[in-house]
Amino acid sequence: MDNRQVAARVEELLARMTLEEKAAQMVQIPYPFVGREESLRWAKMGAGSFLHVLGDEAREVQRVAIEESRLGIPVIFGIDAIHGHGLNDHATIFPTQLAAACSWNPDVAYAMGEVTAREVATDGLHWTFSPVLCLGRDTRWGRVNETFGEDPYLAGEMGAAIIKGYQGEDLSDDERILACAKHYIGYGEAVGARDSCDTEMTYRKLREVFLPPFKKAVDAGVASIMTAYGSIDGLPFTIDPISLKDILRGELGFDGFVVTDWDNVNSLVRRQHVCETAEEASVLAANAGNDMIMTSTEFYQAVLNAVRGGQVKEEVLDDAVRHILTIKLRMNLFEKPEKKGRPGCFGCEEHLEKAKDAADRSIVLLSNNGVLPLRGVKKVAVIGPNADDIRAQYGDWTYFTHPRLNMEHEPIRPYVTVKEGVENLCAARSVECVYHRGCSVLDGEYEDIAGAVETARDADAIVLVVGDVIPQVGEEKDRAVLELSGRQMELFDALRALGVPVVTVLVASKPLAVGRAATQADAFVCAFNGGMFGGEAVAKAVFGEINPSGRLPISFPRASGQVPVYYNHLPGWHCQAGKGYCDLAAGPLYAFGEGMGYSPFVYSDLAFDRETFKASVKVTNAGERPGTETVQAYFNDVVSSVITPVRQLIAFKQATLAPGESAVVEFALSREDFSLINRKEQRVTEPGEFVLMIGHSSRDEDLLKTSFRL
Ligand code: NOJ
Repeated sequence: MDNRQVAARVEELLARMTLEEKAAQMVQIPYPFVGREESLRWAKMGAGSFLHVLGDEAREVQRVAIEESRLGIPVIFGIDAIHGHGLNDHATIFPTQLAAACSWNPDVAYAMGEVTAREVATDGLHWTFSPVLCLGRDTRWGRVNETFGEDPYLAGEMGAAIIKGYQGEDLSDDERILACAKHYIGYGEAVGARDSCDTEMTYRKLREVFLPPFKKAVDAGVASIMTAYGSIDGLPFTIDPISLKDILRGELGFDGFVVTDWDNVNSLVRRQHVCETAEEASVLAANAGNDMIMTSTEFYQAVLNAVRGGQVKEEVLDDAVRHILTIKLRMNLFEKPEKKGRPGCFGCEEHLEKAKDAADRSIVLLSNNGVLPLRGVKKVAVIGPNADDIRAQYGDWTYFTHPRLNMEHEPIRPYVTVKEGVENLCAARSVECVYHRGCSVLDGEYEDIAGAVETARDADAIVLVVGDVIPQVGEEKDRAVLELSGRQMELFDALRALGVPVVTVLVASKPLAVGRAATQADAFVCAFNGGMFGGEAVAKAVFGEINPSGRLPISFPRASGQVPVYYNHLPGWHCQAGKGYCDLAAGPLYAFGEGMGYSPFVYSDLAFDRETFKASVKVTNAGERPGTETVQAYFNDVVSSVITPVRQLIAFKQATLAPGESAVVEFALSREDFSLINRKEQRVTEPGEFVLMIGHSSRDEDLLKTSFRL
């Protein structure tokens, strides 16, 4: 069906719908919470969507919707398939978004999307609540693992790619599903990083920093957008017509449907206290431009009353239903209510290979005094609480890590922890490998530091794996203290005192304030949550079977009190380069864009043509191994009408080079790349001086610079 046919069919359906059927179409039912009977009742009434229901239960709901509701409009099933279809225990589990963002490679995001879509579609479902396009700037926030990191440009590139992977070219494709860009907007920026609290933000800032990834999502054709829990300067996101109507539909031209987050309508009454009744809340939510209401089933009766009472026009419901039906028709749901998917694809070889590749590319080597890759060792000790904890390695949103599902469940798909990965590579090299947990991540669960020291005493190298665990990750799990929890630092100190080289590995949901566990180690490797094969990827990096190519998508703080610390901050009197707190050195411990491999890259010959906006730089692999460099381009607007970031990423490209090989990497930039949002909230490129910076990371010393005037 082409767009005209879709539009005609939508109008035809709308004309036949009663007011009740329109209100029902706007409601999304949480199957596990309301139960089977109630779900089937809603299906008969014509509810538009259900969430968190799989397999035969979903099929039954669909059958009832089609055969027993008056108009037989099929429902769409939504699921949190966040890094793989993780709530199904047969699925392929990828690195988290944050770990995948370390690849700085949109092809990795695309592959994640494509594989996830195929597995979700094979489960009979249509829609994933992914990707998260919030920015991870205040890393105390519990959901940083779900973001693509701190930068709007990188998050937008990765986000657009994963959306294309989920949705493909055609929403009716049997192996593709709907994506949902969330949480619109500024959710991660809540004061004090308290999940779902107020965000003190202006619309200017929203447009400058937080909107660009959503713009890329809309340009990539994202079919749905989810609002956020929080509020902007006291106005809950869910009832904010400026951001939903004027900006999202008006400026960005979004033509899919908007879904609220979980129970947002009731929260207006119960948590945010801006409405006295569900009816008042429903009026505001409908009029602000929400098309589908997640879980607040009170909305149904409330909005019917409101239309009858004149507080909401029926056209508001028509618009919402139009948006939903348009997507249902574009999916060809009426002819094919269940996607075929690809039977047998769950955890198939092809999918596992993609998960392995993503894990390999997400390893970030942040320091190395030459100990890595390990050579000539006879005995390796793998120590630490996260060395053999598959739950910590998987991260949030999987079947057996999600508290509401099943913490005790054992994974049924293959996986490799760091311990197993190192053991396997040691065995292949006839190297002895020993293991000791040492301590737990949380206080008081387990402690045998002395035992770990004994185990490691006569090793030639120690691989120490520290980090965080599931109870410290996710919604409502914000941390005020990012330093290593439990006795992990003591474990490091005790091992360090042995005089055996220590390689510290971080398996965690986000950058922790690792301090001397990284700076006094012989090497420091950041692995975040690598999914099934995260541990194998670490082992391969440690032994040099891969040349680590990951770069940080997020800054590491020196201490909790320094957070938020992100590279594209605004300049000020007392925060100029080199000026830190009176009790803490300046800048992050590890910066955005940072990461090394076993081959250094040398930059030269930066050129920029301000007529054509073409930039180029020469990059040479000065090492002895083939390697992949991520060439990063930043700019600074030297004098501007509003204060602009000290630097902002505007492009990046990867080059894989043989030892001694050089390449000229070119960027086709545009005038808009050098723009800002002025005080009238317009995107403009102001005349004056600019600095273009290209190099290895966001660190000043890593960048070649050239100035020009526009
Ligand atoms: C609430 C979360 O904020 C959102 O990200 C998720 O998609 C929904 N719950 C549905 O589970």
